[in-house]
Amino acid sequence: MDFSGKAVVVTGASSGIGLETALAFSKMNARICLVARGKKKLSLAEKECAAAGAQKTLALACDVADYAQVKKACAAIKKGFGKVDVLVNNAGYGVYGAFQDSKIGDIKGMMRTNYFGTVYFTKEILPTMEGGSHIVNVGSMAGKLALTNYAGYCASKFAVSAFTESIRHELMKDGIAVHLICPTATKTHFFDNKSFAGHPHNENRGGMDEPSRIARWIVNSIERNVPETTSQRPKEKLALFLRANFPGIYGRIMQSRYVKRQLEKEGG
Ligand SMILES: NC(=O)c1ccc[n+]([C@@H]2O[C@H](COP(=O)([O-])OP(=O)(O)OC[C@H]3O[C@@H](n4cnc5c(N)ncnc54)[C@H](OP(=O)(O)O)[C@@H]3O)[C@@H](O)[C@H]2O)c1
Repeated sequence: MDFSGKAVVVTGASSGIGLETALAFSKMNARICLVARGKKKLSLAEKECAAAGAQKTLALACDVADYAQVKKACAAIKKGFGKVDVLVNNAGYGVYGAFQDSKIGDIKGMMRTNYFGTVYFTKEILPTMEGGSHIVNVGSMAGKLALTNYAGYCASKFAVSAFTESIRHELMKDGIAVHLICPTATKTHFFDNKSFAGHPHNENRGGMDEPSRIARWIVNSIERNVPETTSQRPKEKLALFLRANFPGIYGRIMQSRYVKRQLEKEGG
């Protein structure tokens, strides 16, 4: 597919999966709008995109969890780009911990950023989209398989999965394709959150995916019109199958200490 000159908006574009995605589209000479909160990292990311070949760049400091800020940012996008061809809703974060010990503020925060951030951006950008446009939502395998000690994060990502599937059906008639990307553990700043201190992910980043791989999934989902991309690791495929067909067996397996440890280490 020729992305040259296409208007691509990426939220959470200042690091990790979002930055790699913005760079992938920049290399294909798209026009890129980068969204994140931190201005310093955003400005560095914008320079990287320009150097990589983006036809035009626009960097907007915006908290996706704040609808007023999203409205303002999207007005600037409309002014700068006119219509939008690709929206990648990627901004998000996770807080790890047992539900009993979790703060309600953290659970609300993840829902506001991961879920409502996706809803707000989609709502505001959709009127600028025409047939042939694409919305790509970065969910998670944690939005397909609910893991122990991730209740708030999983709930926010399951919400992203359901929202994505529902609007996919609705927007099909308008020729707008909606894709879901479900990464597993990926080598980004995600695990810098202090709740992950001492977590096996921080000792074993070796088995994680590179963010550039997930960026390729995103581009590929558009080029090949793939509705949903999930990890193809055998353990996760088996877990998805068991959850859908044998929930009782699946529950017992997920509660076994061995599986819990393995999933934490390997990013289930
Ligand atoms: N890494 C993984 O293992 C993994 C696995 C599955 C799914 N994911 C999902 O992948 C997405 C990208 O995360 P990542 O792994 O690339 O982590 P990351 O390196 O921490 O990147 C997160 C990006 O989102 C931005 N962001 C966070 N909160 C924001 C907010 N309220 N408003 C605007 N921007 C915000 C961050 O910039 P600022 O902080 O400056 O705003 C940053 O640019 C997330 O949705 C995450 O849930 C990650």
